[in-house]
Amino acid sequence: MTVEDVQHPLVTHFDHHSVDFAHTAIDTVNTLREQAPVAWSDAYDGFWVVTRHDLVSEGFRDFESFSSRKGASIPALSFGSTHIPTSMDPPQHAVYRRILTPWFSQTAMGKREPWMRERVRELVTGLRDRGSWDFVPDLADIMPGTVTLTILGVDPARQQEFLAAMARGMANQGTTDPDVRAEMERDKQWLVDQILAEAADRRATPRDDLMTVLATEQLPDGSKITDAQIIDIVMVLLLAGFHTTSGALTALLVHIEHRPELRQRLMAEPDRIPAAIEETVRLYAPATGMARLVTKDREFGGVRMREGDMAFLLIMAASRDPRQFEDADEMDLDRNNGKSVAFGWGVHRCLGLHLARILLKIQMETIFEVVPDYRIDLERVRLSDTMGIGYLHESVPASIGGAR
Ligand code: HEM
Repeated sequence: MTVEDVQHPLVTHFDHHSVDFAHTAIDTVNTLREQAPVAWSDAYDGFWVVTRHDLVSEGFRDFESFSSRKGASIPALSFGSTHIPTSMDPPQHAVYRRILTPWFSQTAMGKREPWMRERVRELVTGLRDRGSWDFVPDLADIMPGTVTLTILGVDPARQQEFLAAMARGMANQGTTDPDVRAEMERDKQWLVDQILAEAADRRATPRDDLMTVLATEQLPDGSKITDAQIIDIVMVLLLAGFHTTSGALTALLVHIEHRPELRQRLMAEPDRIPAAIEETVRLYAPATGMARLVTKDREFGGVRMREGDMAFLLIMAASRDPRQFEDADEMDLDRNNGKSVAFGWGVHRCLGLHLARILLKIQMETIFEVVPDYRIDLERVRLSDTMGIGYLHESVPASIGGAR
């Protein structure tokens, strides 16, 4: 599609993976939304940027006009774009989603809560004993992947290797550097080999874990999930939960370091922590936005979209839309977040949201309990140079009482 094809859209160079965007993300999305509810970006191969809350919600809901079959990322993820269930539309989507849902339900997460608490307490006690630490690598980046790999049944001794390979893939998603891309290819192949070996192992020796279900489950049409599909599913599970939950934890910690009165309130009233978590994911969008393929020519938000166009539903912009949220840029612990799109909406709404919510709650409660006098060194806090996948910190240094 060329610029001439569309009806007077706002044309921008909006590139969510650029360093410029990383340093101005919130201002950029707030400005863009007020300039145009739907703009055209000429980055990558060109795509629509949808920014207003009502339109982003509609895009998520209307899977017939906005299909997931080209994947949810722009550009397509280096780890392939046939991810399951992310890149599937109904009714096929439901077949796979039904297999995964019980493993990530609120009940399933509740059963794992004591184990999660124990692991988090061990980690936070370790931080206290060290006296100073970095919340990103030392806590936030460890737990989400650990929980997902444990649900899959991956041996705890091997989990670190998995997490490191995924981290490199995510950090470099927007890169065009051939050397970095070659390294990502090697990481991908390594992960593929590991996943296939795990699946083969479960076929030989079934256990009570999700990998066993993926390796042995019979689908409604009588077929088995293929090796290629198992790879797709596991990749999504690892990718989707990895940085999102980590980004949410550090965003909340940094936010309340700037607002001591809020930190005091949360410490005094820990039952408000879940509200703070919902506000954090709304305000900081750990998932920046999701891509969709436009399936038919149509008018949308004042522009004429064409079949085959890509659209990017910019959650980060929708979540601060003043038309939907009063004082949208403020953290309001009494806000009703029933319409938040931070975890998506419709059939693809986040599979891991109970995991994310419970883990974030446990982490905040444990931090307040075990290191109540921690201080974050705000001068050394570093935001990521790439916000394309989500609002992320690279470094959040902290210490007991602020001593270094
Ligand atoms: C604060 C943390 C998280 C946020 C903000 C978040 C956000 C999202 C969003 C916006 C979507 C919608 C994708 C789309 O519409 O295409 C999604 C889907 C998904 N999320 Fe999360 N996520 C989080 C944590 C997790 C975790 C911990 C997992 C762990 C398994 C996870 C697994 C998934 C999966 C598998 C999907 C795809 C669901 C489908 O296509 O049916 N997420 N997430």
